Amino acid sequence: MSRPQEAWTSNLGVIFAVAGSAVGLGNFLRFPGLAAQYGGGAFMIAYFVSLLVIGVPVCWAEWTVGRHGGHHGYHSSPGIFHALLRRRWAKYFGSIGFLIPMLVCMYYVYVEAWCLGYAVNAISGRLSVPGMHYGEFFATYTGANVDGVAVKFGLGDVGIFVVIVLLLNLYLLYRGLSKGIELACRVGMPLLVGLGLILLVRVLTLGTPDPARPGQNVLTALGFMWNPGDSVLASLRNPQLWLAAAGQVFFSLSIGLGVIITYASYLRKTDDVTLSGLTAVSANEFCEVALGGMITVPAAFIFLGAAGVAGQGTFALGFIVLPEVFAHMPAGVLFASAFFVLLFLAAVTSSLSILQPVIAFLEEAFAMRRAVSVSWLALVMILGTGFVWYFSKDLKALDTIDFWIGNVGVFLQGTVIILLFGWVIGIEKSWREMHRGAALRVPGFFRIVMRYITPLYLITIFTLFLLDKVVGWNFSFEKPVFQQTGYIADLVGNAPSPVARITVGFIIAVCLLGLALVTVAGRRWRSKPVAPHYRK
Ligand code: ALA
Repeated sequence: MSRPQEAWTSNLGVIFAVAGSAVGLGNFLRFPGLAAQYGGGAFMIAYFVSLLVIGVPVCWAEWTVGRHGGHHGYHSSPGIFHALLRRRWAKYFGSIGFLIPMLVCMYYVYVEAWCLGYAVNAISGRLSVPGMHYGEFFATYTGANVDGVAVKFGLGDVGIFVVIVLLLNLYLLYRGLSKGIELACRVGMPLLVGLGLILLVRVLTLGTPDPARPGQNVLTALGFMWNPGDSVLASLRNPQLWLAAAGQVFFSLSIGLGVIITYASYLRKTDDVTLSGLTAVSANEFCEVALGGMITVPAAFIFLGAAGVAGQGTFALGFIVLPEVFAHMPAGVLFASAFFVLLFLAAVTSSLSILQPVIAFLEEAFAMRRAVSVSWLALVMILGTGFVWYFSKDLKALDTIDFWIGNVGVFLQGTVIILLFGWVIGIEKSWREMHRGAALRVPGFFRIVMRYITPLYLITIFTLFLLDKVVGWNFSFEKPVFQQTGYIADLVGNAPSPVARITVGFIIAVCLLGLALVTVAGRRWRSKPVAPHYRK
């Protein structure tokens, strides 16, 4: 290693960092939208099953594998797989955990720039312009109406915020693990929770703001969000609900992204992973269910009713519906500012975690100094974010990368990690490794869960996901219908989307380049002695 080893200042530091990675847009926008769509209470049953069977086990597996890899002197997923398995092919399995963050960060920072832009707009009371509907403003601001239209750098344009967000991320990464990422999370996370609590109190004390609409009050709003639909059992028979719940657990906990492996690799050999992993999960769940689940959708329902909330996607809920809600709310400017600052803090602590695996790979693959690795990352970001930003119509490039990498990719990576833990390294060895220095003894039945149930559940969910989103099966055995889905029609349908095609070409090019880099790195690693006891 050409540079001093980095480490977290304490276990609390890594918990802050992992929680910071997990708490993101998914908590405040994606979760409430999905929960409301699938009948609150019923969704929560599937959500908690996924949390217990996938979320917590995959988290523990990633923490354990990461710490073990770091102990061998590696911090990137390809390097960790190489160090642990010592097979030629191992680094290629590990490269999924490097390619996913490299591609996801390209669009994540673009959305982060919207959050910062909206925060500044909210503070200056300009969440739209007079005469323009919030949806139209959003489309113009982000370029969702025309390709290339958002690539502008005037005051108030999103371009300024893309530059600021990129520079901020790169600066914090340049400062390093403890002085950059950890510090940002130690400051950002309490601030975020504080803002979340203020917003929560505001929403829960709204009462019935419009006496002309007595049906729109706090209680009915919470009922809309959390009451199971007509029949919980009927809702639970819907495979889409289980897919949505599992997908949300992945997205929200940042598992399968290649992030936790890298973060955990900076732990010391006997630092606890069981209690720390569970604490980070719990912090995420508090922000997701207690804050996210009680703020956005209930607030929107109170002011706009069910019709105003129904069918709104993640972005529409946050950037179109809520600005309208804040406009109706007393002291709306204040609460809108609090909300978008919260979203920005949530996004920045997550984007840092998505960028660090790329830095870790560049440094250990090519012995780069931090300034050099950050410069290369800057180039990757300018090209990648520039691509997503330019091809902005219908957010097609963003959506295509999010589907093929942010959804398909993370299911794949989660499955690879749990199989590595339970089968390739072996459950006995992994279990011992997980409990090295553990502050919490994991109940023995999780050994069975992690070896059999999680992989089976994951493979089932992944298969259902492909049948639903790729093959377009209607999940009926009596009258099966297979319909071309949007993502496939975009590529091979009668009227394909040129941007979706270019984006898939872009993804393939990035993956091939990444694999070539991993191959070159592998040559260097073969001759690098493994230093298992380099840490104190
Ligand atoms: N876990 C992060 C989020 O929820 C990626 O946004």
